[in-house]
Amino acid sequence: MCGIVAYIGTKPARPLLIEGLKRLEYRGYDSAGLAIMNGGLHCARAVGRVSVLENKVDQLGGFDGSLGIAHTRWATHGSVTEANAHPHRDDKSGIAIVHNGIIENYASVRTLLTEKGHRFTSETDTEVLAMLIGELYDPANGFDLERTVQSALREVTGAYAIAVVCEHEPDTLVVARKGSPLMVGIGSGEYIVASDPSAIVAHTTQAFPLDDYNVVKLSRDGFRTSTVDNLPITPKVTQLELELEEIELGGYEHYMRKEIFEQPNALRNCFRGRLDHKEGKVVLGGLQAYAPQLVRSRRIILTAQGTALHAAMIGEYLLEELAKIPSEVEYASEFRYRNPIIEDGTVVVAVSQSGETADTLAALHEAKDRGALALGVINAVGSTISRETHAGVYLRVGPEIGVASTKAFTGQVAVLTMMTLFLARRRFMSTEASARLMIELDAIPEKMDRVLEQDAFIKSVTEKYIHRENWLFLGRGYNYPTAMEGALKLKEISYIHAEGMPAAEMKHGPIALIDEGMPVVFIANKGPQYDKVMSNIEEVRSRGGHVIAVATEGDQAIKHVAEDVLYVPEVADPLSPLLTVVPLQLMAYHAAVLRGHDVDKPRNLAKSVTVE
Ligand code: AGP
Ligand code: GLU
Repeated sequence: MCGIVAYIGTKPARPLLIEGLKRLEYRGYDSAGLAIMNGGLHCARAVGRVSVLENKVDQLGGFDGSLGIAHTRWATHGSVTEANAHPHRDDKSGIAIVHNGIIENYASVRTLLTEKGHRFTSETDTEVLAMLIGELYDPANGFDLERTVQSALREVTGAYAIAVVCEHEPDTLVVARKGSPLMVGIGSGEYIVASDPSAIVAHTTQAFPLDDYNVVKLSRDGFRTSTVDNLPITPKVTQLELELEEIELGGYEHYMRKEIFEQPNALRNCFRGRLDHKEGKVVLGGLQAYAPQLVRSRRIILTAQGTALHAAMIGEYLLEELAKIPSEVEYASEFRYRNPIIEDGTVVVAVSQSGETADTLAALHEAKDRGALALGVINAVGSTISRETHAGVYLRVGPEIGVASTKAFTGQVAVLTMMTLFLARRRFMSTEASARLMIELDAIPEKMDRVLEQDAFIKSVTEKYIHRENWLFLGRGYNYPTAMEGALKLKEISYIHAEGMPAAEMKHGPIALIDEGMPVVFIANKGPQYDKVMSNIEEVRSRGGHVIAVATEGDQAIKHVAEDVLYVPEVADPLSPLLTVVPLQLMAYHAAVLRGHDVDKPRNLAKSVTVE
């Protein structure tokens, strides 16, 4: 969470910083602020969206200069107030800093600095780092800004991506990272630093990501990359692939709506070049080198958070049913702390849209430290997790801006399906069986289009229930995780409380929640447990619940037991989540819009949870 933008060059920094913050605002939006060097540091901060800061800066004036830092915050330490907004200053050396992450030993450092006479003006951990840098700054004795930042970072623990400026060095920008993403864009005679490529590609496509413990000192004449121990390092400059129009709204009202409707084409891109129908084989270049080891793997652990975890749960069912490899799913935040057993032949798969989720990254490190082969199923190219796995598969669904994940979910499920077939064909699955599923997989985008055509009807159904504050989502088999995903979508953007669970589990307690008219969404496609789902539907109806069923086209029986039926085309059960999730995404979207909420920036959330 949070977005950092910094600029040093010859152009006015203000418009660049503001535009960059707007591109990063999906990462966190509690407050925003900037500092620009113009014969001293000019700072402005504001609670709320970047547009509030923009108006404030325009009214204040004086923010001219070609060196600046900027930040959009997702609060971790300290409430959402202007005093806690970044940039934070020190009280001695003219320092200003913006920070993404958590300084874990901030309390003890704050105590030490308070004893030295420093007076804090915020509740944040970040201000402690600003004060520490200010306290250590001593250019007369060799501790210029670069050396001082290195020294301060050796004293703190936790995660950081930071950009630092100092009034005594008006032509220097220092940036550093550990655990939170940061990237340097290289222009001609200028540099733009940001939390992710979306704030860089408008200016340059030459860039390099910082690795943990990297420090970069930038001036208009060049830059120097080192470690926090001042050991020089050579960064790996790459060509950014992101195209600007991929991150524009393109005529849609919201990014989430755009990304829901992009899914058919996103999956076409995901499949392109990977489904060899002639050979009945899936081609995943990123796994090829490890194919023999993967085929012999004894256990696969999929680890993720949130929506990615729901996709991983579907992956578990696919791997066990089709590739016959024992598999399990673990919350990354639990896996990393519970002392997991990793025996020989274990493969750990980190599933993550952003490739920056702190818990998933930490779980990956834990798995690698214990000798597991670490794979990634990632959307963001060049992200930290993708750089730290042994191998992996990119989703190729394009950048996902809406905080509520949609096309990344179906992309993750599609890639996990292809990975399963990649393994199954090398284990027990016949060419014919594999070829059949691949043909079905290839047909998904067209079937998805047919579901999306029902958007207006799905909105009309949703409208009937948006006044109800508690919903249940129930499914079985491959669609139990889909029910979990539907519940998460609804609650995170409409703020309606929703629970997803296996349909049978409802009888073991949650059925007590059902009262007259309670909306209960069933995924009731024609799968192997259809009859059981129909029984569960009857159990809900007999208690007054209103059933909204996602069903298979042509199913007439469902009409007699459900208040509302949302049809999806016939599809093989293992592939059904790719279709059954779409009505759930649209219901959540319409519920949020109808309830007047900000669909793309829901309260308290951020797109990438880069703190623990
Ligand atoms: C999903 O809509 C949420 N935005 C959130 O649960 C997200 O899926 C989770 O934070 C994991 O993010 P990642 O896929 O980038 O690792
Ligand atoms: N921990 C810092 C704060 O609460 C930074 C949070 C962020 O990453 O935005 O201000």
